[in-house]
Amino acid sequence: MYVERETTGLETTSQERREGAQPDSRILGRVVQCDGARAIISAFADDETGAVTANWTVGRMISINLSEARTVGLVFSIDKPDRQWGDSARNAIEVCVELIGEVRDIDGKPVFDRGITLYPHIGAIAHRIRARDLEAVYDLGGRQSVEIGNLSQDEKIAACISIGDTLNRHFAVVGTTGVGKSTAVSLLLRKAIAARPELRILIMDPHNEFATTFPDQAVRIDTSSLDLPFWLFRLEEFAEVLYRGREQVVEEVELLRDLIPLAKQQFRGATQGVGLRRSTDNGITADTPVPYRMHDLLRMIDERMGQLDSKNERPHYRGLRMRIDAALSDPRYRFMFASRLVDDTIHQAIGAIFRVPHEGRPITCLEMAGMPAEVVNSVCSVLARLAFDLALWSGGRLELLVLCEEAHRYMPADSRLGFAPTRHALSRIAKEGRKYGCYLGVVTQRPGELDPTILSQCSTVFAMRLANERDQDIIRSAIADSSASALSFLSSMGQREAIAFGEGVATTMRMKFERMEAGFIPGSRVKSGQLHEGAEADSEIDLVQLVSRLRNLPRPAENMERASEHAPQAGDADHRRSFAPAQHDPDAFGRRLFDYKADTYRR
Ligand SMILES: Nc1ncnc2c1ncn2[C@@H]1O[C@H](COP(=O)(O)OP(=O)(O)O)[C@@H](O)[C@H]1O
Ligand SMILES: [Mg+2]
Repeated sequence: MYVERETTGLETTSQERREGAQPDSRILGRVVQCDGARAIISAFADDETGAVTANWTVGRMISINLSEARTVGLVFSIDKPDRQWGDSARNAIEVCVELIGEVRDIDGKPVFDRGITLYPHIGAIAHRIRARDLEAVYDLGGRQSVEIGNLSQDEKIAACISIGDTLNRHFAVVGTTGVGKSTAVSLLLRKAIAARPELRILIMDPHNEFATTFPDQAVRIDTSSLDLPFWLFRLEEFAEVLYRGREQVVEEVELLRDLIPLAKQQFRGATQGVGLRRSTDNGITADTPVPYRMHDLLRMIDERMGQLDSKNERPHYRGLRMRIDAALSDPRYRFMFASRLVDDTIHQAIGAIFRVPHEGRPITCLEMAGMPAEVVNSVCSVLARLAFDLALWSGGRLELLVLCEEAHRYMPADSRLGFAPTRHALSRIAKEGRKYGCYLGVVTQRPGELDPTILSQCSTVFAMRLANERDQDIIRSAIADSSASALSFLSSMGQREAIAFGEGVATTMRMKFERMEAGFIPGSRVKSGQLHEGAEADSEIDLVQLVSRLRNLPRPAENMERASEHAPQAGDADHRRSFAPAQHDPDAFGRRLFDYKADTYRR
């Protein structure tokens, strides 16, 4: 193998001990060219007996021994310039390496430093790298490290990341569908929770696949277990729901902008005995998250509609009234309008979503596969906003990670796509969240379609296989240090394999994530067709249930369940027996969001 394993601690390298001209099994070649970042090594593809040694392969690390330090290089291309294979004489090859840094022995321990102080001279000897040196290259130097897999080059060496830096400064996992992004993320989250038990995680889960991965640590939230009062919505989020993601009628939204603050005042006046004050002089706007009664809003609309001077506006009042009525009677929006939410139950509602107290379950999976697109838009926006504000106002006591699967849908590169408030809320986390303890994890298979500013805020990137040239270019431009050539492997990496770079790792690292047990792979139950825990194998398809799901109406049994349920119930692992994958929901198709990958479940 390529890596030199040693049993003893510090010893002189073989080439220090012997004459340079003597044959040495660790000598691989000699430097024949060097510039500031790269070197070319002249070597042979075969040994004296004519046997092909296969000593050189792309992606391996080597070291070039200089007197004080060992320069570490990464092989990124190998060439036989004459393109001829000769059987009679040895075959000379050229090996191009990128210089990554230096290892020095300090107090008997190898210590790695990015950056080169001593450039290899012509004729310097290139060696296999010692295992200890390789470990030193990836050593995190005292930062709290967690093991997430192994190095690709040497499976015996653990791949470690600094969990603190990975979280605090946001991270991204990118790669083609099926390479293991979701599995890698669940592994990272598992390690993050283990290292930081007080961390809360909100997973925006478009395929309802994560809850099974964390059976004991996560709660599920879907439209039937979500409690998110309408008054927490900002005007634009509320309008998104009312207009179902379609073109909004500006006049009607303006009426809402005037009336909602009044309804809020009225509710305050009624509950606090404060005299009714007109207009927004006490700072309450349509966006302020204080409660109001829908009933008050509707009454005001009706009153104004009846007034003589509102003749021209009457159609707008009428239109608005109809829209609100439609939303109120739509069972899919019950999570917003359920009557108990009118009271100031915000503490409970928010505590249940953001796990305060977490009761051993610090992860919330927002299961969105069954939700209509406009609900997804608004709910994500509200939750991302709340996440930031909670972290901000907790003064650092609450640490929150918002994980976005399929992040290109919320934060697309094309600013005309996606839902603007969600994008704002998430980019606020990306830009300022780290100061307040609100972190972002981004997962996408199309980095090219993700807002580039978001990716640039992610200080640690796990790049898995990427076939698309454009996507590769995006990642290449994101990597700042000298190891950009590592990314030439992006198109050919295997499953579970990733190139990790950025703040969370010591040096750009090609690694393989740990193998996860089948039961903990995200979506494993969905993919294997076991949608419901209770379902017997080969049971008949329940058409009644299917149709009621199409209508988005809960079944009578579920109704009763709903009536008795309250916030913390979402915590029970088996509470929500059923969760509908995207393909059962006609609304999830053909809309701006979540039209994708439904077929993955059937694989
Ligand atoms: N770390 C891992 N351990 C075991 N199996 C894995 C691992 N990563 C990926 N797989 C396999 O690859 C499949 C796809 O992984 P997944 O995480 O769903 O990919 P992606 O999210 O990129 O589409 C999984 O169903 C699983 O069989
Ligand atoms: Mg996935």
